[in-house]
Amino acid sequence: MKAISCHLLPIKPPTAAPLPRLLPPPTHSPSHPSKATSITSRAISISAPSIPALDTNASDDAVSAFWDYQFLFVSQRAETADPVPLRLVDGALPHGFPSGTYYLTGPGLFSDDHGSTVHPLDGHGYLRSFRIDAAAGRVDFAARYVETEAQAEERDRDTGEWRFTHRGPFSVLKGGNMVGNTKVMKNVANTSVLRWGGRLFCLWEGGDPYEIEPRSLETVGRFDLAAGKRIKAGDDDGTVRAKLLDVAARVLKPLLYGVFKMPPKRWLSHYKIDVKRNRLLIMSCNAEDMLLPRSNFTIFEYDSNFKLLQSQEFNIPDHLMIHDWAFTDSHYILFGNRIKLDIAGSMTALCGFSPMISALSVNPSKTTCPIYLLPRFEDTKSRDWRVPIEAPSQMWVLHTGNAFEEKYENGDLHIQIQASTCSYQWFNFQKMFGYDWQTGKLDPSMMNLKRGQETLLPHLVNVSIKLDVDGNCQDCSVDNLAEWSKPTDFPVINQEFSGGRNTYVYAASSSGSRQALPHFPFDTVVKMNTATKATHTWSTGRRRFIGEPVFIPKAGGGGEDEGFLLVVEYAVSTQRCYLVILDPKLIGKRNALVARFEVPRHLNFPLGFHGFWAQTSSSERHVASSPTRNLELSHECIGAT
Ligand SMILES: [Fe+2]
Repeated sequence: MKAISCHLLPIKPPTAAPLPRLLPPPTHSPSHPSKATSITSRAISISAPSIPALDTNASDDAVSAFWDYQFLFVSQRAETADPVPLRLVDGALPHGFPSGTYYLTGPGLFSDDHGSTVHPLDGHGYLRSFRIDAAAGRVDFAARYVETEAQAEERDRDTGEWRFTHRGPFSVLKGGNMVGNTKVMKNVANTSVLRWGGRLFCLWEGGDPYEIEPRSLETVGRFDLAAGKRIKAGDDDGTVRAKLLDVAARVLKPLLYGVFKMPPKRWLSHYKIDVKRNRLLIMSCNAEDMLLPRSNFTIFEYDSNFKLLQSQEFNIPDHLMIHDWAFTDSHYILFGNRIKLDIAGSMTALCGFSPMISALSVNPSKTTCPIYLLPRFEDTKSRDWRVPIEAPSQMWVLHTGNAFEEKYENGDLHIQIQASTCSYQWFNFQKMFGYDWQTGKLDPSMMNLKRGQETLLPHLVNVSIKLDVDGNCQDCSVDNLAEWSKPTDFPVINQEFSGGRNTYVYAASSSGSRQALPHFPFDTVVKMNTATKATHTWSTGRRRFIGEPVFIPKAGGGGEDEGFLLVVEYAVSTQRCYLVILDPKLIGKRNALVARFEVPRHLNFPLGFHGFWAQTSSSERHVASSPTRNLELSHECIGAT
């Protein structure tokens, strides 16, 4: 058995305090890390044979907190294509729980076998699935790497050895070819997951989605969303500036597409589902937009059979970086996170001495936040969409939970957007998750600012925009979404209410009870009532953390908060991962926990990014119950959250 070191684990703690008697978490690896075809649950073992559980009474100081933080980013090299039943350790699957699969994606690997580490955003996508059979009262777990082209190149299929050859936008190589390496963009398909039209996809911010077989999690291949689709070009303003930018774009394209092999279209990892119209909304921008003070966004709308219903292209004369966005009945909504080219950073990045992302930095030149209201339909009565509404607050928008609009009798329009934002002062491309590319280490202090600075960290806001009948902005205000001041992110709602007025928003937050990790990682699910501003919480407990929650509506409908919340719990204290089911109506009360399922220790996985709940359709139930089931059968389109 080959023991593989975990290069993310620090040699020295961040303080002068002595290390406690804590063994570092293991890097998990298959006992025979050979061929991908040998992926079975039985073939997996842990490289470190006897890792004792961490002492649950360990003092809550900076050192143990530092180690706890590393646990969330431990590589998991093992995969399991054969579903593994999870042990129920608390509660039970309740009557009426819908059967379906919770897919969760995120990075799985943070270090190779030749001395290179990567930023969590550059970690190869590791797709986890929790298949819930409510009738049988069981949950089956499986996990596999997305077999991207970069993964095929960087993992030796015969030996299981990893060697990073691509730099990735957030990392530098140490053991590989650093200088002159033009393999920059590494589509690791690690950011979000989508089930639509009976198909499953893993998405990444800078390239095509990868299609995955929903049951086996086997990678089907890269999926060209825009293949053969005619894109309706948006208006260009025809100014001299626009023409000069056209010339600059023509110069940059051969460099970006040819030398750096960047795809012309960058698909955003965040998509939207318009439940009312049963449509998938997805957005792309151009590769050269990263370097130009002009942003080209194309928004596609698909029906449930992946038939393209419409697409629109918008050229916005600003240098923006959009991660998440929103829609209403008649608008697409973009918050303008402003960026600028960093010349010095560009030089070192091109030479391979710093991550490519250091070519960009946030641009806090304005004290306001531009919000672009883009007309969704041809008959949308719109103001000049090139002119943004300026929100009276400088916000870097991370995620949006929902947006909706309501028309008054006199024709005025009221738009509200619920989003998580942080400050420009805090947001730093190179240091997200506390990753230091110079040392290859993770330092949680970046995510845990001192008392008084926590207002810079992510929190939830409600942006309210009032337009008169001619589209003139009468008012734009930004308020806290609820009475809750702790750092909070990953806002989600009952998707049955997406695009319409909702009352409740759920998110991941921090209880603040951990002295050395007061703000992140999150340990609390917060339920916010946007009407009353009341807030209720459920916390995991000592030395346990959570990821993004997902709301599952109650079968057959019901009130907005009738259903279940799924969230993964990372129990550092016992080195275990759990799937937790909560009752949203009982959050804030004593018995919100419905059930907790334990993932076997050898299948522990690192912190996930985004997930998706896919309810089992009637055709899938038929297939699953058939002894001669054919997994290649196409599935019906399913409801989505
Ligand atoms: Fe995201």
